[in-house]
Amino acid sequence: MAYTHEQCLRARQDFPALTRNPDLAFLDGPGGSQVPKAVVDAIADVYSSCNVNTHGNFAPSREVDRRMSAARDAVAAFLGAHSGACISFGQSMTTLCFNLSAAIGRTLQRGDEVLITQLDHEANRGPWLALQERGAVVREVRLLKSGELDYADMAAKITSRTKLFAIGASANSLGTVNDLALARRLTREVGALLVVDAVHYAPHFPVDVQALGMDFLLCSAYKFYGPHVGVLYSRPGALDTLPTDRLSVQDPAAPYRIETGTLNHAAIDGVRAAVEYIASWGAGSSLRARIVDAMTHISAYEHGLAKTYHDAVREIPGVRMWGPNFDSGPRAPTVSITLAQVTAADAAIALGAAGICVWDGNFYAARPAEVLGFTERGGLLRTGISMYTTRDEIERLLNGINRLS
Ligand SMILES: Cc1ncc(COP(=O)(O)O)c(C=O)c1O
Repeated sequence: MAYTHEQCLRARQDFPALTRNPDLAFLDGPGGSQVPKAVVDAIADVYSSCNVNTHGNFAPSREVDRRMSAARDAVAAFLGAHSGACISFGQSMTTLCFNLSAAIGRTLQRGDEVLITQLDHEANRGPWLALQERGAVVREVRLLKSGELDYADMAAKITSRTKLFAIGASANSLGTVNDLALARRLTREVGALLVVDAVHYAPHFPVDVQALGMDFLLCSAYKFYGPHVGVLYSRPGALDTLPTDRLSVQDPAAPYRIETGTLNHAAIDGVRAAVEYIASWGAGSSLRARIVDAMTHISAYEHGLAKTYHDAVREIPGVRMWGPNFDSGPRAPTVSITLAQVTAADAAIALGAAGICVWDGNFYAARPAEVLGFTERGGLLRTGISMYTTRDEIERLLNGINRLS
């Protein structure tokens, strides 16, 4: 099922924040997306019908158990996982990544190496850097000026001492898409675990954890039209023996093994609704097929708009582009620039006053900011394209940037 400008206009009707604020252009998707009414309704429905704890011997509790299990199955379909037993939920990607690093850290010996990258969001660096306290050696894959990882450096740094490689699927600062197949091949050769941060990737591309052969993959539902819930995919068996932080009374089996306390049941039902909403834009005989079809077409639509913006904004005097261009391979629809005459913060304030929501700064991608030197320039002005972004909004943004330069 193609996803065109007309489909986008129809989709916009499903998002209460967009119909309620027709003059606001939400180009801040990499910071978090708006949610369709189906998600709002799912959350409200939990509070209205089964706002009780799980595993009780009474009907509303059985209903909340059913919904939690349906949400795991839906996210499994979204990520191409074997089953809902591979899907753990948590407060955020960051929280789950800290929980995962603490558990894996207990299995490491002093001197074991953990590899991270200079391109990643701090959420996929900080939890691994923390393992230095336990005697792990943390190394970094270099970031090139082009905004791409140095793959020769990656290959050189994955050695028999490497126990884990944590890499982003796509950079929230620059839109770079990394070569995960290469990362998997290299880590497999030395028997290292591969942990992927797909927070910025999952809203824009179909994910297939089985095809990629991931050990662990993290993402966050509030970036793909859902509520604020973190998601961890674990390969079958990968979580089973990890010494996670958990209570003695807790279920030690996957996917519960890394979950702590009572989860946000209403929000998790909202995650299921978000996945089903995405699937509603695709064709196919299974939920997975509809998701892949929808994501493939939404991805093409977003890519087209992002390229239009990228190619037009670079022509504006004083604009400098950051990150890979759109001809060099897969690229997330996230475009970052700096302006010669005005800082990113002042540009974002002026655009914000005109109803155009774009982000400025480093977006917690502090390391690429430091390496590429955009911190000194006051950070980047970042535009994110979502399934509800229109050509008119891109025109408004371009006019606004023209006025600033
Ligand atoms: C690429 C990337 N990784 C990780 C995170 C952290 O996700 P969360 O807010 O769920 O902790 C973000 C949030 O912006 C992100 O963009």
